[in-house]
Amino acid sequence: MSGFLAPKEGGYRVAVVGATGAVGLTMLEVLAERKFPISELIPLASSRSAGSFVAFNRLDTEVLDLASFDPEGVDIALFSAGGATSLEYAPRFAEAGCYVIDNSSAWRMDEAVALVVPEVNPEMLEMARINRIIANPNCSTIQMVVALAPLHRVVPIRRVVVATYQAVSGAGGKAIEELANQTRQLLAGASAESNVFPARIAFNVIPQIDIFMDDGYTKEEHKMMDETRKILQADIALTATTVRVPVFYGHSEALNVEFVAAMAAEQVRDLLADADGICVVDDPSTEDYPLASEAGGTDPVWVGRIRDDASQANTIDMWVVADNIRKGAALNAVQIAELLIA
Ligand code: A2P
Repeated sequence: MSGFLAPKEGGYRVAVVGATGAVGLTMLEVLAERKFPISELIPLASSRSAGSFVAFNRLDTEVLDLASFDPEGVDIALFSAGGATSLEYAPRFAEAGCYVIDNSSAWRMDEAVALVVPEVNPEMLEMARINRIIANPNCSTIQMVVALAPLHRVVPIRRVVVATYQAVSGAGGKAIEELANQTRQLLAGASAESNVFPARIAFNVIPQIDIFMDDGYTKEEHKMMDETRKILQADIALTATTVRVPVFYGHSEALNVEFVAAMAAEQVRDLLADADGICVVDDPSTEDYPLASEAGGTDPVWVGRIRDDASQANTIDMWVVADNIRKGAALNAVQIAELLIA
């Protein structure tokens, strides 16, 4: 798999759409950290923040207005400005010859669009040769499939039951402020104001992420179920309960995984220890297991609490944690960009 973008002396012209947001700012950080070859970095946002500055490689770079920006000559655009912005602008960038890596849910389930996690299904990127739009999966889906794929390759998975414990940063910059503000307000004895989440998030747990669908699941739960099947190209039975918890960074997931044949916890531990992008932290004798507080700001998917399901054969339980803004969004998008120039 190569030949998407020819090597370019001095680097590529890269745009970040939504550059002032929680994910966009981290995209800038990750591009700089990984020394992505860039000749010009173009931060784009709405007219609200056009004219402000964001830091890239320690240089203040002016944010431009997406609505009046001409994408001609841009090689790669990383989008994280919501579904409506992606639906409107991603095709315009693609028609101008740019590869779009889109973090919204707008294109993920489009049959003509690749949905890629580089450690899991880099081959799906081939689809992007035609339409130049590549979808970055949902944050909770990414960390789950990174942990499932190395097992599924050895013994196919029959069914997954997952419950998530998702950080507020997944809902953007305003959601991070809401948890901080509510925590301060409640500790000061005042009442807490909710604008972003459907209920108070400070000192609470909310079993709703995104809107409800007709079948009683939320849209976030459907994303996990549908995207996993598309990425793994397998008809796995999957049921999800997605939950928001008062954590700033780092999604955690409790997974129950049933295989079509024998798969013991010990084998799971060995397979995941050797897998790309995974760190296993799993020692009950020292009470070591992955924690959101430690995964925040790191790149790997962390897995622990691996054990045989005592209630059922061919089934294991495990606990999977990752930084939802890095591996769940910005890092995965930059890794896809790296595949485009490989
Ligand atoms: P802006 O700063 O102009 O509002 P978050 O997910 O943290 O809420 O961030 C959302 C990002 O998407 C921000 O950078 C925001 O820019 C950007 N954005 C939102 N709506 C638009 C739009 N219509 N056009 C361009 N960028 C947008």
